Amino acid sequence: MNGLDQLPVLVTGAAGGIGAAVVARLVAEGARVAALDLHAPDLPGVAYAGAVDVTDEDSVAAAVAASTAALGDLAGVVAVAGIHVTSPTHELSLADFRRTLDVSAVGTFLTLRATLPTLVARGDGRIVTFGSTAAVCAAPGLSAYAAAKGAVLQLTRSVAVEYAGAGVRANCLCPGGTATPLLAAINAERTTRDHFLEAHPIGRYARPDEVAATTAYLLSDDSSFVLGAAVMADGGFSAL
Ligand SMILES: NC(=O)c1ccc[n+]([C@@H]2O[C@H](COP(=O)([O-])OP(=O)(O)OC[C@H]3O[C@@H](n4cnc5c(N)ncnc54)[C@H](O)[C@@H]3O)[C@@H](O)[C@H]2O)c1
Repeated sequence: MNGLDQLPVLVTGAAGGIGAAVVARLVAEGARVAALDLHAPDLPGVAYAGAVDVTDEDSVAAAVAASTAALGDLAGVVAVAGIHVTSPTHELSLADFRRTLDVSAVGTFLTLRATLPTLVARGDGRIVTFGSTAAVCAAPGLSAYAAAKGAVLQLTRSVAVEYAGAGVRANCLCPGGTATPLLAAINAERTTRDHFLEAHPIGRYARPDEVAATTAYLLSDDSSFVLGAAVMADGGFSAL
């Protein structure tokens, strides 16, 4: 893809199923990658690996500073970190609801707030946040996750229109079910037929490398006119 070679990119949630695939694809494209997660990820080819708690503004500021020291001024940001809670809404604890929003919505906000000044100063910034089909499609038991991902999508759209004139492109990637530890944990709790899988017209879950390919596209020059979009990489889930 065009424009990824030597691009300095920060990735949160980099130790997870999708995050690690994103890092691998960006490294393969020649990008210089700062890989961040709760514990510094052990991933080949990265320029920097560090720890961050995206819900903590001091931690995010320190991780962005360390990444910038290692890579130089950042040009790309991929906010992958997120958690998932499934519960009937009337049984959902306030702590779980808050935590879900804290990691996805607040975490994405803190990550973007800490990196936008550099992207604006460069006049060239590429942001990919992580929504989900839950950002646009409701499902039983997903109220916390859907609220968090809906917030990420609207945060991203807001940033996209606010900073478009400064040369920053922000988009929200909304994957369908993707075969990662997160999805395996959800499926381990399942006692009924896998209706989620059946709701993907393509008939299967995504591989993490397929989501990573869409991420790389959104970071690359090949998506130069894509801005403020909810990019549904979902096997047709949201088209049904
Ligand atoms: N797997 C799916 O089916 C699917 C579908 C749609 C959207 N998503 C979204 O894609 C993203 C990645 O999902 P995944 O399946 O790879 O999940 P995963 O659980 O494998 O990875 C998530 C990563 O986020 C990290 N993380 C959690 N809290 C953090 C915090 N406070 N600070 C820093 N890092 C933190 C975890 O340590 C983990 O490495 C998430 O935002 C998820 O909601 C996943």
